[in-house]
Amino acid sequence: MVKIGDIELGEFPLLLAPMEDVSDPPFRAVCKANGADLMYSEFISSEGLIRDAIKSRQKLDIFDYERPVGIQIFGGDEEPMAMAAQIVEVANPDLLDINFGCPVKKVTCKGAGAGILKDIPKMVRLTEAVVKATRLPVTVKTRLGWDDNSKNIEEVAERLQDVGIKALTIHGRTRTQMYKGNADWSLIGKVKNNPRINIPIFGNGDICTPEQAKSARAKFGIDGVMIGRAAIGYPWIFNEIKHYLHTGKHLPPPTVEERVKVCKQHLRHSISWKGEIVGILEMRRHYANYLKGLPHIKEFRAQLVTCNTPSAVEEVLDAIALQYKDHIFERTMPLIADTTESSVHPDEVMCGFPG
Ligand SMILES: Cc1cc2nc3c(=O)[nH]c(=O)nc-3n(C[C@H](O)[C@H](O)[C@H](O)COP(=O)(O)O)c2cc1C
Repeated sequence: MVKIGDIELGEFPLLLAPMEDVSDPPFRAVCKANGADLMYSEFISSEGLIRDAIKSRQKLDIFDYERPVGIQIFGGDEEPMAMAAQIVEVANPDLLDINFGCPVKKVTCKGAGAGILKDIPKMVRLTEAVVKATRLPVTVKTRLGWDDNSKNIEEVAERLQDVGIKALTIHGRTRTQMYKGNADWSLIGKVKNNPRINIPIFGNGDICTPEQAKSARAKFGIDGVMIGRAAIGYPWIFNEIKHYLHTGKHLPPPTVEERVKVCKQHLRHSISWKGEIVGILEMRRHYANYLKGLPHIKEFRAQLVTCNTPSAVEEVLDAIALQYKDHIFERTMPLIADTTESSVHPDEVMCGFPG
């Protein structure tokens, strides 16, 4: 049984990655319904929380049905991070995660996100300040190191454990790699197999098939995997992996009817969280991912992103379900979503986990 503090997560938990503009409550709701064991919020700026910025505050929203859920914060200074931890505690998540992995310049140049990988003593001080500021279990998500010459994750893991973190997620790339090339899981395995390490170690990077999750578990002994892009428009990935781990067999891919059903659920959650106008607008970025694999879908997609009422969207979705009712989805990978439009993580679409 994998545990973070007192939170029991089962044998090999599947974590939904924190993703800016993606891992909001509506998306988390559909991932939870489809097997995610632990989910994280989008990252929240510690400075933004302290300034009471509306966008940062909204990201604190969590709902009981999604527990266990973690809120992730980032920042480069101890005091604001400790203050932000206290604000997060009031929102009552199950745990608090520190982002030491974000590679984008506007974050790293302030010594936050992966920027702190250049200054390990500061990373340790900052983590300790957060651990001391809150009663919540604190977890960390980070990368292998800053660049190829400084892959210091083994030292980092020990030192962060020593100041009290309760779990560590490692993305198998350096900051310099951003999201290019393949994730290197060998160092993640080394951290997990270090006898000094007794907190759960979760692996992250390029998992997009049940086979890859199984292989990561067998090869590197990690306690669970965190999944990001493969879940975008495809929340079924969690149950597919679980089923495969338990039975060695694949679940059939979701039918178009199931895809439309979950897309509608996502839309309803979006509207009930953000209201009709914003809820419909924010949902638009998800349709292409839900409809991936359907031939000649462009016309329908164009209609979906111009609908302004829930019933209009649902009508188009129903028309799609009808038109493609006999479509057989192949279990072809990669499933990784195209996130190139994201403002925060300009990403490569790839799926290069060493199977
Ligand atoms: C659109 C997008 C937004 C992301 N936002 C965050 C974030 O807020 N915090 C974070 O720690 N990582 C963030 N990431 C990185 C993911 O959590 C994850 O580490 C990365 O996608 C690699 O995992 P994957 O190969 O399963 O997608 C983001 C990634 C994407 C694609």
